Amino acid sequence: MLTLLTIIGARPQMIKAAALSRAIEQKYADQVREIIVHTGQHYDANMSDIFFQELQIPTPQYNLHVGSGTHGKQTGQMLEKIEVILLEEKPDVVLVYGDTNSTIAGALAASKLHIKIAHVEAGLRSFNKKMPEEINRILTDHCADFLFVPAQNALQNLQNEGIEAGKITVCGDIMYDTSLHYAQIAEQQSRILPALQLQPKQYVLATIHRAENTDVPERLKNIVEALRQIAEKHRVVLPIHPRTRKYLQNYNINIEQHPNITLTDPVGYLDMVSLEKNALLILTDSGGVQKEAFFYDVPCVTLRDETEWTELVDLGWNTLASPTDTPTDTTKIVQTALHYIQNTPAKVASPYGKGNTAEIILETLVTRYI
Ligand code: UD1
Ligand code: UDP
Repeated sequence: MLTLLTIIGARPQMIKAAALSRAIEQKYADQVREIIVHTGQHYDANMSDIFFQELQIPTPQYNLHVGSGTHGKQTGQMLEKIEVILLEEKPDVVLVYGDTNSTIAGALAASKLHIKIAHVEAGLRSFNKKMPEEINRILTDHCADFLFVPAQNALQNLQNEGIEAGKITVCGDIMYDTSLHYAQIAEQQSRILPALQLQPKQYVLATIHRAENTDVPERLKNIVEALRQIAEKHRVVLPIHPRTRKYLQNYNINIEQHPNITLTDPVGYLDMVSLEKNALLILTDSGGVQKEAFFYDVPCVTLRDETEWTELVDLGWNTLASPTDTPTDTTKIVQTALHYIQNTPAKVASPYGKGNTAEIILETLVTRYI
């Protein structure tokens, strides 16, 4: 029996974990024992509990309740608490997802105890070391023993950094597994469109939460100004991350009163999938939402200077529009968005696997350990 200790903490990690836990339950229950540790990085009911309920993720054996804080404080507390659990549980492998502070804390704690590390979503790079996520993912990749890579560009990045080929498995994107499983369920169960009085394909969906956008007043103001201009033509729906709400208040930016912009609290996964599938266009700085836009054939404008998911840009499904600090950039976001609404690309490739990523990961680990 392989004892696999998985670490989650932030919203997108729960969505990724749902696919792995389901595959364990359905196909690997007699070979893999999963111990789930929730760091508590995200803790509001609509940033955490709702995903466990909707996606039927098993209740974590441990919740570290670390909560919010500066990078050092948050990561340090996780590291200390994860170490205690690893000493107690002695897992064969610690598995971490993505690039958050929960990811690097899990990888560091395991590596210092010489426990094998599996990194799901390895090899992604923005080549922007000012992003906390870039540091987290590079360090995690370089101490991982199993690097599970979603697509070819990420493989190339790891090869360029000299990571041993034997550690790498190209396995597709685990979020695609979750998307395939829940797309239809979302259509049947979500009531978000009537609740917000939305008609399919008659609104633009936006999400903003990246520190480099929210924490810089000019960038956040430019994004909001772009949304206001787009809202002159199309209804805009913005489920708002708590980080973004905090900074909108701090900078005194008010969009709640705008007649054609609908601001909501963060929504659950099924509502989000329904909002995404039925959107005319998505504007986002989220990694997960960029991919989901592609899965659901919705064109996407990414509000960043660069993206890790470069194949989506190469395929014409994703266009970068940077919200830097001149009014020209606002105009560029608006023009790109309006152009894209008229010129939806055709889908010519499917770079993120077949929706069986969780199985490939488990099979790889089980083959090595049992
Ligand atoms: C984190 C990840 C980011 C990921 C995102 C997913 C890091 C460095 N960043 O960013 O890579 O894309 O999660 O959503 O790990 N807050 C609440 N309630 C919550 C959670 C957060 O109010 O349940 C507020 C707090 O004010 C907190 C702020 O949001 O300070 C930021 O939360 P944090 O987890 O530090 O970073 P995210 O911006 O969520
Ligand atoms: N998501 C959600 N509700 C929301 C916003 C996002 O369920 O209100 C989901 C979204 O569908 C995707 C994931 O959260 O699966 C993306 O997480 P986020 O944008 O917070 O982080 P990132 O992917 O950028 O790390």
